[in-house]
Amino acid sequence: MHRVDCGGCIYQGVPYKEQLQLKAKDVLRHFKDNLVSFDDFLGIEGSPELYAYRNKMEYTFGDEVKGGPMTLGLHKQGRFMSILTTDQCQLVVQDFNRIIKATLDFCLEKGYPFYHKRSRKGLLRNLILRKGRRTGEILVNIVTSTQLYFDGPAYADMLNDLELEDQLVGILHTENDNLADAVVCDKLNILSGRDYYYEELMGLKFRVSAFSFFQTNVLAAERLYTESLSLISDLAGKTVFDLYSGTGTIAQAAALQAKKVIGIELVGEAVEAARSNANMNGLPNCNFIAGDVKIILDQIEEKPDVIIMDPPRSGVQPKALEKILNYGVKQIIYVSCNPKSLAQNLATAMLFGYRVKTLKAYDNFPFTSHTECVVMISRD
Ligand SMILES: C[S@@+](CC[C@H](N)C(=O)[O-])C[C@H]1O[C@@H](n2cnc3c(N)ncnc32)[C@H](O)[C@@H]1O
Repeated sequence: MHRVDCGGCIYQGVPYKEQLQLKAKDVLRHFKDNLVSFDDFLGIEGSPELYAYRNKMEYTFGDEVKGGPMTLGLHKQGRFMSILTTDQCQLVVQDFNRIIKATLDFCLEKGYPFYHKRSRKGLLRNLILRKGRRTGEILVNIVTSTQLYFDGPAYADMLNDLELEDQLVGILHTENDNLADAVVCDKLNILSGRDYYYEELMGLKFRVSAFSFFQTNVLAAERLYTESLSLISDLAGKTVFDLYSGTGTIAQAAALQAKKVIGIELVGEAVEAARSNANMNGLPNCNFIAGDVKIILDQIEEKPDVIIMDPPRSGVQPKALEKILNYGVKQIIYVSCNPKSLAQNLATAMLFGYRVKTLKAYDNFPFTSHTECVVMISRD
């Protein structure tokens, strides 16, 4: 059963070919609006998998109608307070749907109330499910307030008895009494197993911890990163900066060929994960620095030969962008999850003498509004 009112997917019922056309058109519109020209538009590439491609979901406990039965899932389209139980979602593997249903049944049976955003009273807040696409390892993380007792051991026993296709490697309980409507970890309790899972990408192994960023559509991300790196004329002997490096996936793939890679990332936990993954993958030529790109760039004496950047949706801040462009490197690869901020940043790059050589769009998130782009800009 589809929930056409689910806020997770805006393109339900739209044929896939049409979704791709709409997304490509949207990307080109942002370029046009910002007067950014390009030599080659390489089109839009669809996702290798249309369904069950998401390896992470963050669900919310709530109700669909005020005072109605408790629900667990995603927000209704355009409705902040209304939550739909999404236990039939097709963007995730069936195991995720089974875990949602079992969790909801368990909590209803225990009589646990959900945490009300307005009154800030109640227990159950979120359920975060993550899975290693290649390893089949599943991590469950239930997030509650500490206003009432949550029976973690009974919850873990119930889940460990659940019949699943893949393997549960960790069941976690996050305590969160923060007033903000976001998952904040005051305390992490390991109820069973471990607090991380393994993933494999581009022939490398990654240990992904409970709150680390990791690409949500692994097969699509792998293709996007591989194609991004292939745009660089020759990595051998070069020093590469991977800006906004997250868990260091691009940096480590580049380090297989480059002389040296320096990754810069704001979130300390992601940097720790990147370091330990590079260590595990035997890549001593990979260094990761925690901090804001804008500040760290001033502290590094080394100069890059090539820059790869994969900033957040808001794009690269003007001050950071100026510093990046002032290196004057011949090639910059810009990986973007937001065509609007991408086009705005590229308009600035053109003022610094850069030219957009290639632009390619990727639909890594079918049925949703999101589009990724890879752009190669160059300066003679
Ligand atoms: C789209 S993700 C990049 C993910 C990365 N390529 C990977 O594969 O893990 C953007 C990253 O930028 C980081 N970030 C956001 N603002 C930043 C800043 N001012 N300086 C450094 N990193 C920042 C975020 O924490 C996030 O990990």
